[in-house]
Amino acid sequence: MADPLESLLSPAERAALRASIESASPFPPIAYTSQDFFELEVERVFAPTWVAIGMAPALPNPGDVHPLWIFGYPLVMVRDGGGRLRVFHNVCAHDGCPVVTARGSGLERLEAPYHGWLYDLEGRLIGAPYWDGYAEADISALRDRDVDLKEIRSSIWQGIVFINFTGDAPPLEDFLAPMIEFYGNHDFSTVTMAFDSEDGDGLHRFPAKANWKLLWENYAPDVYHENFVHLQYRKSDHVPRVDGRGGKTFTEVDDRGFMGLAFDTAAVGGTYPAVELPKIRRVSDGQPIARSSIMNMYPNLGFLVFPTHIRVSILIPNGPEDCEWLLASFFNDGAATEPAFREDRERGFAGSALARVEDDRICELVQRARRSPAPAKAFYSPFWEGMLYSFNRRVLDDLERS
Ligand code: FES
Ligand SMILES: [Fe+2]
Repeated sequence: MADPLESLLSPAERAALRASIESASPFPPIAYTSQDFFELEVERVFAPTWVAIGMAPALPNPGDVHPLWIFGYPLVMVRDGGGRLRVFHNVCAHDGCPVVTARGSGLERLEAPYHGWLYDLEGRLIGAPYWDGYAEADISALRDRDVDLKEIRSSIWQGIVFINFTGDAPPLEDFLAPMIEFYGNHDFSTVTMAFDSEDGDGLHRFPAKANWKLLWENYAPDVYHENFVHLQYRKSDHVPRVDGRGGKTFTEVDDRGFMGLAFDTAAVGGTYPAVELPKIRRVSDGQPIARSSIMNMYPNLGFLVFPTHIRVSILIPNGPEDCEWLLASFFNDGAATEPAFREDRERGFAGSALARVEDDRICELVQRARRSPAPAKAFYSPFWEGMLYSFNRRVLDDLERS
């Protein structure tokens, strides 16, 4: 059978993605607009690896449940009776209704909304009232019909919940190795998540009607745009991040899917809102960290570390032109929940939220313009866009691995 990739990308387009950066071309518009292309990405980019979907501290207690959609699939995170976080396909064995339709806490069982089927917190079917005409239906006949919820392999790092659909990815720590090594001298053991969001779960949601690749490359790898899209950074002397002599004032990191920029925090004073919060320390000498980093972990995590906080940005793709960001924040030494620090936490978050909205709006415009018959950019800036080039090649590598 022909590889579906063949009808989506021509040999010339693939060769152009792989040419040297001076002569390479990025993906053609179909990669941003086509449902078929998106489905192939789900199968070949996302399903075989670890994908971030949410934050474990938002479900602290047994019976806490949190439904979500990703790739158009319904899932549910459940803190089970033993305190373990599990992720299930949120699909009822009866006729496929989502079992959990709203966040909940302290539940003892899950009750499907359509015909009332009941599951325990470990996903086992425990009841199907009136299934056989009786309130206390005998479900023994259903037992051999594979009626439990289908669990998805999951694992947690720094409170971030990751799933692996195929179940055969290497352990999460191996996948995150470049990131774990990069932050090896950061003492994250004393940072905790803040719960300042409106509904108290600590997650801030930003819908973005754009392809995941546009949003992903914009987050950390596209350093070029900062000076034009973000009013707050534009005012800074440190943006654009060049020294006037053809050099960069930041360190570019591009290591096994972990990519972004790092810079000396003291050198960019005034670029970001000033906050007075306890600083994250170095493991080696207990001194405050002095560097900031704005990073991506392929394929859907953004991870920003400043001396006073960590901002986690999870990109949830739902369709070729439809994504949602989930943002969570971590602070050090109890500052995440200390009322006296709330104002500082919120001032810092307001800066991130504004940048998020500015980025999403420009990405949405670029997305809409991908439907134009006029050709889009077919080249890279070798100075700025090395990470975009590397990212696109990584996506292609995955797509070609059938
Ligand atoms: S489809 Fe879920 S209870 Fe019937
Ligand atoms: Fe931006």
